[in-house]
Amino acid sequence: MPPTTTSTTDAPRAPRTGDHRVGFRTLDRETRVEALPVEGDVPAWLTGSLVRTGPAQFEVGGRGARHWFDGLAMLHRFGFADGSVSYANRYLDTEARRRASSGERPLAEFASDPCRSIFARVQSLFSPGFTDNANVNLVRLGERCMALTETPLPIVFDEETLATIGAERSPGDHTTAHPHHVDGELLTYAVHFGARSTYRIHASADGRSYREVARVPVREPGYMHSFAVTQRYAVLAEHPLLVNPLRLALSAESFIESYRWHADRPTRLIVIDRHTGVLRGTYEAEPCFVFHHINAYEDGAELVLDVCAYDDDEIIRSLFLDRLRTAEPRLPRVEPRRWCVDLDGGSVSSERLADVSLELPRVNYRAVNGRRHRYAWGAGAGDVGFIDRIVKVDVESGDVATWHEPGRYPGEPVFVQDPSGAGEDAGVLLSVVLDAARETSFLLVLDAATLEERARAEVPHAIPFGFHGQYLGARS
Ligand SMILES: [Fe+2]
Repeated sequence: MPPTTTSTTDAPRAPRTGDHRVGFRTLDRETRVEALPVEGDVPAWLTGSLVRTGPAQFEVGGRGARHWFDGLAMLHRFGFADGSVSYANRYLDTEARRRASSGERPLAEFASDPCRSIFARVQSLFSPGFTDNANVNLVRLGERCMALTETPLPIVFDEETLATIGAERSPGDHTTAHPHHVDGELLTYAVHFGARSTYRIHASADGRSYREVARVPVREPGYMHSFAVTQRYAVLAEHPLLVNPLRLALSAESFIESYRWHADRPTRLIVIDRHTGVLRGTYEAEPCFVFHHINAYEDGAELVLDVCAYDDDEIIRSLFLDRLRTAEPRLPRVEPRRWCVDLDGGSVSSERLADVSLELPRVNYRAVNGRRHRYAWGAGAGDVGFIDRIVKVDVESGDVATWHEPGRYPGEPVFVQDPSGAGEDAGVLLSVVLDAARETSFLLVLDAATLEERARAEVPHAIPFGFHGQYLGARS
């Protein structure tokens, strides 16, 4: 399927001298703005809020964080009403931040592990030393909003004031910040490390109590950032970045640096019936590394799984801050890839969906999660070697549309359905964009079908690059 590129916007707006490094500076200021300056027309049907989390303080415990994932979490909220846009930002009030402020020994983060003795190491990994620095993603479940990272400590916060309410405890030792909403519940997975390690799937209706859905033994667990669901299955894509649990407990390396890449091993697709908990099968695809699943669905006896795939785990090393804070960070190539799994025959085919860089993917989740989809949106890297564009991929035709302006660095585009629109791509994308030259950010509103700009709202400061956010519809 030959790709095409359309709809590139290059209209100049300001002198461009800065670069992406502005997005890796600490943001000290917490603020509230009732109405941001808006250019263009924000749809009046947007009446909820876009809430995002991400690292915003990169000095922890008197020294710099090593990895992008280890900056301290800040929430940002864009509220929509009658075409106007309010804004507020606030740090999460976590134990991780309290320790950073008081100079106490920091908690172990993803790749900034201060624990150098075996004794401290064991304590921090398998005891209440988990970091609560919830800077990856968030969910609303019922009346509650929770910010998430990969430790089992969701942080409950007030979605209006962004005030921190407190920490919960979810199952497992390592979990995902990308749970799924299915059948009125949150479905998530976790790794339980031990002499007999297991992957477990859990469901929760309230974010407080969890019901175990499935348990799969594993000798060397993989590092997995997200997973997929279909109408019937939960799917774990265990790429060959694996850890010996003993190494995790005893080595002096950071959490993620305890994992080892095994180029000679396949990616194992672990397919679990999420209604019965029975393992449907384990299937082998080529070795690759995946942070994010795009979507998955069943097609007769086939399972279709779309992911953002890297050749190997180099992406993790490329996100260390000393590498990101160079003029040309050169992120490794990532592509939208489709695996088709013959559930009975056992074979897996692999194909590139489009010739484009695609990360931080989003779909029309309410309409297509676990079902056949046609469109995926995401952020992509261009010539500068860092994410500098928003792309839309038609996975049926391979066609690609792009939004790009030199010197502007967008984050994850969040799709919001137009309530009066019928098509899968009828709606808008909301993305926080850094204007590097002006050292400020703006909220960009794009038509999700065409990627044409509808509006932008100027924020009074530069928002550090974050990971994920959610559009929270107005409560009725
Ligand atoms: Fe993620």
